[in-house]
Amino acid sequence: MALIVGNWKMHGLKASLAEVAAVARAVATAELADVWIAPPFTLVAAAVDAAGGAVPIGGQDCHHAAKGAHTGCVSAEQLADAGARFVIVGHSERRADQRESDADVRAKAEAARAAGLQVIVCVGETEAERDAGQAQAVVAGQLAGSLPDAADGLIVAYEPVWAIGTGRTPTPEDVAAMHAHVRAALVDRFGAAGAGVAILYGGSVKPDNAALLLGVPEVGGALVGGASLTAASLLAIVKAA
Ligand code: G3P
Repeated sequence: MALIVGNWKMHGLKASLAEVAAVARAVATAELADVWIAPPFTLVAAAVDAAGGAVPIGGQDCHHAAKGAHTGCVSAEQLADAGARFVIVGHSERRADQRESDADVRAKAEAARAAGLQVIVCVGETEAERDAGQAQAVVAGQLAGSLPDAADGLIVAYEPVWAIGTGRTPTPEDVAAMHAHVRAALVDRFGAAGAGVAILYGGSVKPDNAALLLGVPEVGGALVGGASLTAASLLAIVKAA
């Protein structure tokens, strides 16, 4: 079954918990694809309550250390303590804005696993890298440097940077080629366990293109930004899956 993960980024106030509750109600009453939501840190604990167990709630990042003098940061253990079940690491916005390296991302992924969280590791090329014919090499390098030591609890999200928030998407053929490339890297790295790791596509997934993108071979689901902010839009994607 496909997995649809909503990444709210820096959106959402307490009033947005009604959207979580609406998604949870829909999931509880119908046979739908799995749906998870990553609200901002401020809403994680309240979203866990609003979801009532029907929708796993997660964080959008975590620190690599379990605790310490890191003002403003949140550890994987703290997320788990708040009721989170997963965390996204290595999103391209953090790789760019916070200058996170592959080694940083890998350390965060290991911290997440140590805290018992499932971890979504994001990879993806910029437009310049794709135009230069480097997309697969860039993603291969990110996977080599960012993945944790074991495949259990691991999910990979392929998000071409140029498709995020732009309304542009790769062709289904390009998505298929990249997901096959990611799958080969996962099997190379983890053996049989790598065959079972879900690979999500992210970048301008909307209700009207979800069925097309989710129908591509090796696309195990979607990581959704803007279209995950309302229950109506997120559920339209979930139903398309
Ligand atoms: O993590 C999801 C994201 O980067 C995609 O954002 O708004 O293009 O769906 P969006």
